[in-house]
Amino acid sequence: MLIFNKQSLLIAHLMPFWTSKTAIGFVPTMGALHAGHLSLLAKSLENNTITVMSIFVNPTQFNNSEDLAKYPRTLESDLEKIASLDKNIVVFAPSVEDIYAKDITSKTFNYDGLENLMEGKHRPGHFDGVGTIVKRLFEIVKPTRAYFGEKDFQQLQIVKKLVQKNNIPVQIVGCSIHREEHGLALSSRNERLSAIERSEAGLIFKTLQEAKKRFGMKSASEVSKFVENVFKNHATMRLEYFEIADETTLKTCVQKSKNKQYRAFIAVFINNIRLIDTISLN
Ligand code: PAJ
Repeated sequence: MLIFNKQSLLIAHLMPFWTSKTAIGFVPTMGALHAGHLSLLAKSLENNTITVMSIFVNPTQFNNSEDLAKYPRTLESDLEKIASLDKNIVVFAPSVEDIYAKDITSKTFNYDGLENLMEGKHRPGHFDGVGTIVKRLFEIVKPTRAYFGEKDFQQLQIVKKLVQKNNIPVQIVGCSIHREEHGLALSSRNERLSAIERSEAGLIFKTLQEAKKRFGMKSASEVSKFVENVFKNHATMRLEYFEIADETTLKTCVQKSKNKQYRAFIAVFINNIRLIDTISLN
């Protein structure tokens, strides 16, 4: 397996593939890999001649220094997981210095307002950090296709907007959410949950499924009230937000319209660990 920790070396390796217009699939991650990440890799391997995966815990997208410090870093076992899937995957695992030199700051992006809702509202600056690193990585890898999970649905829409606004020649492919048996969406942050918390966290997806059922008969605000009540007096879980929104604009659904696609979005704290999930409602 080829592992590069400097962008200059990766660029030198990729140059002939760009020249020959070889299909390059790209899966950006922050590591602590799980089956969700690996499903993105599998999709890329299926549809491209070569696949690049980046592993980089991007400091500029964390608005909470404790979250950044505690983010799991498990490069050795990540590399084993990648190799067990396919030994030809190219891994890019740069240092913070290689990407940012001495200026560890974000550029500012305008995503037509998508950045001010939900995750953007509760994590100020988060999507500037995501835009900064994703644009940089696209410039380095120059992929044909790039794979993003619907688990971070707002991020997926933001990346599509970034590509469109900056005329970046890459196809963005959205991939379905991988879950544990009891419904909890796989996430690197799940590693920080105790066994009890992990099993309790199944309530998040259970509630989303119930919300979907109710949305067939009830208004968006009635469904939101139901969800708020589920978490109201919960011993360990705290609801940060629940939103029913238009899938494309991410604007809150006030009045249901038949020809729109809706999606529910949720963020929940279990003690101090923040988990997000989403479900399509149509
Ligand atoms: P990270 O959280 O490591 O996620 C990398 C990719 O895996 C994202 O596209 C995410 O949506 C996807 N993913 C995470 N959990 C998933 C699951 N359970 N099922 C399917 N896909 C899943 O998202 C980031 O990193 C960063 O913001 C990044 C885009 C790499 C920029 O730093």
